[in-house]
Amino acid sequence: MAISTTSIIFPIIVFMLLSTTIPTQASGSCSGNSNATDLMVEACKNASINSYVKTVPEEFCLSTLQSDIQSIKAKDLHDLVFIAMDITKGRLNSARAMVKKMLQNAKKGTVRMRVLRFCEVDYEEMASILNICDAMIRNYQGYTGNMRFEELASCVFDAYHPAGACEDELQDMPEEAALFQENTELLMLVRMGSNFLVPMAVP
Ligand SMILES: *[C@@H]1O[C@H](CO)[C@@H](O)[C@H](O)[C@H]1NC(C)=O
Ligand SMILES: *[C@@H]1O[C@H](CO)[C@@H](O)[C@H](O)[C@H]1NC(C)=O
Repeated sequence: MAISTTSIIFPIIVFMLLSTTIPTQASGSCSGNSNATDLMVEACKNASINSYVKTVPEEFCLSTLQSDIQSIKAKDLHDLVFIAMDITKGRLNSARAMVKKMLQNAKKGTVRMRVLRFCEVDYEEMASILNICDAMIRNYQGYTGNMRFEELASCVFDAYHPAGACEDELQDMPEEAALFQENTELLMLVRMGSNFLVPMAVP
């Protein structure tokens, strides 16, 4: 929620985190995994090249989909979008549980308390946004309907800002690396979900 000078540093940190995954991604060996269907490989390749706002590393995308057995059964991109949304909501719930637990031992008036409270609010906001988008995606009538894909991708991407705000806050709590990592993955999942909606623009 809070806007601080760390908001300038934040994109640099995310870039640094992402750039560490680039060399391994270049090997392109992901498609050799028996659990990755052609649809998953294609969707992740697309999401790593074309983006609504920010691309997502192909390897992160594939391993995320592979972590959910439902992915293998996905018939089309629409199915994958729901799977991506479910995974994101599941991860968000774990992050919320983590924050809730940490709040139990946080002392009033401390930096720790402030950071955790802001992240708690950020995650609540994220959850509402994702629930709204989920309903919008379910109502999507295809290209001929009233809704345009941009609105769906933009809806999902709205969840990026609260996770970014929590990340800004977490700069003041460097000892909580696990929560920072969880939050970084949430940011990636939001990119993945919004990018999956991009090819739906094609009539
Ligand atoms: C990937 O991108 C191409 C070109 O934009 C598009 O035609 C195709 O439907 C996309 N496939 C998936 C699974 O995202
Ligand atoms: C395939 O998916 C299942 C269930 O998610 C997992 O247990 C298994 O290790 C995966 N296999 C490979 C080759 O990734």
